[in-house]
Amino acid sequence: MSKRWYNEHRRDHWRRKAKSSGYRSRSAYKLLQCQEKFNLIREGDIVLDVGCHPGGWSQVSVELTGETGRVIGIDIRPCEPIPGVELMVGDITEESTQERIIEMLEGEKIHSIVSDISPKLSGQYEMDQAISVDLVCMVMDFAIPLLNNGGSFVTKVFQGRGIEAIVRAARIRFSKVQRYSPIASRNSSSEVYLVCRNKLPANKIDAGETTIRVAVENELVDLGYIIDPDDEEPEDSGPIGFSVHRAK
Ligand SMILES: C[S@@+](CC[C@H](N)C(=O)[O-])C[C@H]1O[C@@H](n2cnc3c(N)ncnc32)[C@H](O)[C@@H]1O
Repeated sequence: MSKRWYNEHRRDHWRRKAKSSGYRSRSAYKLLQCQEKFNLIREGDIVLDVGCHPGGWSQVSVELTGETGRVIGIDIRPCEPIPGVELMVGDITEESTQERIIEMLEGEKIHSIVSDISPKLSGQYEMDQAISVDLVCMVMDFAIPLLNNGGSFVTKVFQGRGIEAIVRAARIRFSKVQRYSPIASRNSSSEVYLVCRNKLPANKIDAGETTIRVAVENELVDLGYIIDPDDEEPEDSGPIGFSVHRAK
């Protein structure tokens, strides 16, 4: 039995289970397993679901928050309506989308941010992984300030360079930060979920003015994984074959 066959078989298992339970994606089970272990979402909570298409995580979130809660889902791709979920189409990294989310919140704070965001895959793992790390940093920089004290944040990220730096940045902002692989995702060695709980009050966060994106990029520059555009262009740009430019 090849490893590939085994992995496909397990994927099919979660896909079939999702279909029979009415979930739009097998990913729904990844959030359910995170919930079972960490109890992230409670009745009455306000939840932001980032990268929500086709809607599996939003379906799970609305089941957990109930009628007194609120679930806002955002994705570049439009989702079919889900009862009880406020769906938005937009790129979370764009200022106009971020402003729309802030407007929708009407000054209320979010209790739980769940992000299964994933870039469009090119098939080149190092490139996709670098983009996944960058997307996660941008989501964190935008969304964590909207979270209430004690709130939680869970995100998918592709394993590889930059994860340690993200974990370090998260530990400044949350009292509990763990990496977790739900059983429903263990067949895919490339992804891991970062579960951050108990957001600290602003006066306890000692991160200076540096955004998570800049902190992570700085660490990657220091480690020699990405090129600082302020430095002279090296003759060999390294094994990745592209450079990520430092955000100003
Ligand atoms: C793995 S899917 C999410 C599956 C979803 N959690 C579910 O259970 O149905 C990842 C999603 O991230 C979205 N995405 C990627 N980049 C994005 C961005 N910049 N803004 C908003 N959504 C994005 C993709 O369009 C894709 O639908």
